[in-house]
Amino acid sequence: MTQVFDVEHVLAQLTLEEKASLTSGSDFWHTEPVERVGVPAIMVADGPHGLRKQAETADHLGLGSSVPATCFPPAAALGSSWDVDLVRRVGEALGRETRANGVAVLLGPGVNIKRTPLCGRNFEYVSEDPVVAGELATAMVGGIQSQGVGTSLKHFAANNQESDRMRVSADIDERTLREIYLPAFERVVTQAQPWTVMCAYNRLNGTYASEHHWLLTELLRDEWAFEGLVVSDWGAVHDRVPALAAGLDLQMPASGAGSDEAVVAAVRDGSLDEAVLDVAVRRVLRLIERSQPTLAEGGTFDVDAHHALAREAAAAGSVLLKNEPVKDTPLLPLTGPFAVIGEFARTPRYQGAGSSQVNPTKLDDALSSLGSDVPFAPGFTIAGGPTGDDDALLAEAVDLAGSAQTVVLFLGLPAPDESEGYDRPRLGLPDNQVAALRAIAAANPRVVVVLANGSAVAVSDWQHLAPAILETWLGGQAGGSAVADLLRGVRTPSGKLTETIPHRIEDTPAFGNFPGEVGHVRYGEGVLVGYRWYDTRAMDVAFPFGHGLSYTTFAYDDISATETSVSVTVTNTGPVAGAEVVQVYVRDPESSVLRPTRELKAFGKASLAPGESRTLTFELTRRDLSYWHPGLHRWVVEGGEFVVEVGASSRDIRGSVSLQVEGDPLWGELTAMSTIAEWFAHPVGGPLLQSVLTLPDDMPPTDETVQAMLASMPAKVLVTFGMTDFTLQELDALVAKVAAG
Ligand code: BGC
Repeated sequence: MTQVFDVEHVLAQLTLEEKASLTSGSDFWHTEPVERVGVPAIMVADGPHGLRKQAETADHLGLGSSVPATCFPPAAALGSSWDVDLVRRVGEALGRETRANGVAVLLGPGVNIKRTPLCGRNFEYVSEDPVVAGELATAMVGGIQSQGVGTSLKHFAANNQESDRMRVSADIDERTLREIYLPAFERVVTQAQPWTVMCAYNRLNGTYASEHHWLLTELLRDEWAFEGLVVSDWGAVHDRVPALAAGLDLQMPASGAGSDEAVVAAVRDGSLDEAVLDVAVRRVLRLIERSQPTLAEGGTFDVDAHHALAREAAAAGSVLLKNEPVKDTPLLPLTGPFAVIGEFARTPRYQGAGSSQVNPTKLDDALSSLGSDVPFAPGFTIAGGPTGDDDALLAEAVDLAGSAQTVVLFLGLPAPDESEGYDRPRLGLPDNQVAALRAIAAANPRVVVVLANGSAVAVSDWQHLAPAILETWLGGQAGGSAVADLLRGVRTPSGKLTETIPHRIEDTPAFGNFPGEVGHVRYGEGVLVGYRWYDTRAMDVAFPFGHGLSYTTFAYDDISATETSVSVTVTNTGPVAGAEVVQVYVRDPESSVLRPTRELKAFGKASLAPGESRTLTFELTRRDLSYWHPGLHRWVVEGGEFVVEVGASSRDIRGSVSLQVEGDPLWGELTAMSTIAEWFAHPVGGPLLQSVLTLPDDMPPTDETVQAMLASMPAKVLVTFGMTDFTLQELDALVAKVAAG
């Protein structure tokens, strides 16, 4: 068994040069060993939905080969399951494969918020909502780390696009950061303590994440009490010394000539405190040390069992968008004979491109999974071949459609449309596929569309042509068999949308502020991201956040709520077993700041047999009612009415409860420039000012207009306008008196 070393003992023995060397990689995937004192190198590997262990080659774009590993559904699909228990089990399986391959840290999960459907890497991220992303990633981290290997929560923070990702400054106001872009990280860090956090490539408000002291130290360590190690994204460090000073511990990959020397020189000339370097080295040593027992033990994994789990997960993450009756009967599940059309049925699109690309242990396609006797036509080329080729394929497909009872048409985004490293060019499906759908639907209106794409695609131009649509996202290596299970009714769809499907790109929150210009992307939509935008602006969408149908139906009864808990009884009222994702939203109808119309605060999934009921209860905290006050720099609850809503989607609220909630003290420090309203809201300053304030005779203080006008007037201006006998000196004295308490 490998010797587990004593971190402090080793640290005390290291030379300055050895310390510097430990804070960057030795090659693409390994840390630096220090054999002299018995410190081995450890290996890290991508992530997030399968192990990408490169044996011989090394790259971060998924180009070189890697050892076979289970390709579980990427986060877009897995997240759509909203199933914490399932995600944890997938995490455990990932952990088993990681340890069996002698890898210490799996580089994932990613919890960046889907700010726009065009982000090329959305398939690796969970949701447009921080609670969904945070809860599911917490389960994933817990599952992986239960196997004695580490995770890397990425990309911290505000890496919401691929365009210019290595340089762009995400310019985000404080409240938006706190409410939208940070909470998923916060939840995972505080609840699951990932072994590592990976800092992003981009800049945040002008400073590279790798050199961002507030982000890496004040927030992550001091506020959230992160205990692990901060590793850079591959190549995200530009200047090692300020990065170490900001709180970055390990630069990956290897740093190149002269870089360790620069760290040594900085310590020698006093510009970097050796104690700061020691902190980073200690964390690197601790990471190596904690991985040793597992790496010594190793392990194995059951390829077939993991494939079966991947199949279960792909089915659970597929979302039945619509299933309208045709002559009284919905097309799904399939009951009679059917034909399959679409190249994707036999050439599955099951994962995205880039560093997350896994070499799967097996690969199911839907066509073989549906049975060898099913009639099939490819219908189109995925790449959108020369018109002649596609015309011939389509003619054959239309013939087949005309003679079939029902058509299952597999559509999706071609692989080059979405990838790490660049953003999507458009929201829609390729023209040749939409043209194929039109021609096929004209020949046979009984069309079920099965979609494969890593983030929302526009459906509004064509969805009326398909009575049923099943969104499978990118389903991983068992996506093909999972879709066959769903189509045939072997399993019942239970996934729901973790991202809104908008009508048009022009409707999306970031439109106009994406992908930015001249090195900056301004998050101008503020907190109105995803459904927060569409719901607050009362905009029509194709399919709302949280939406997803089943082959059965669910009733919601006995909805009740207090400030600390919500409860609802859900009953399966239909003919088959199924699972329902129940969502709890909170709304603050009246607030002095803009609050989104509704915000998700909790969710749960209940699997129910026909006729079965279950009561779900959810915890609510003060934080769930609060907003981030950028003036006070803390969470505040503004007193008054709150509405707790329980729904099947953000647009299918089944019941709500109104609560009266006592607010937090909202006053800040008073100055001469504080407004009259701010003075009057202050428990000490209010009565003081009231007792000395005089107004001209024609301005009766009881008059509503006078009150409204004065409310937003700074106290000082009242004086300089000569509207009161009060002097500036007296006002300053009042300010001092309030400050003294
Ligand atoms: C990606 C990371 C990945 C790393 C190593 C980077 O380009 O952004 O997500 O873990 O490469 O492959």
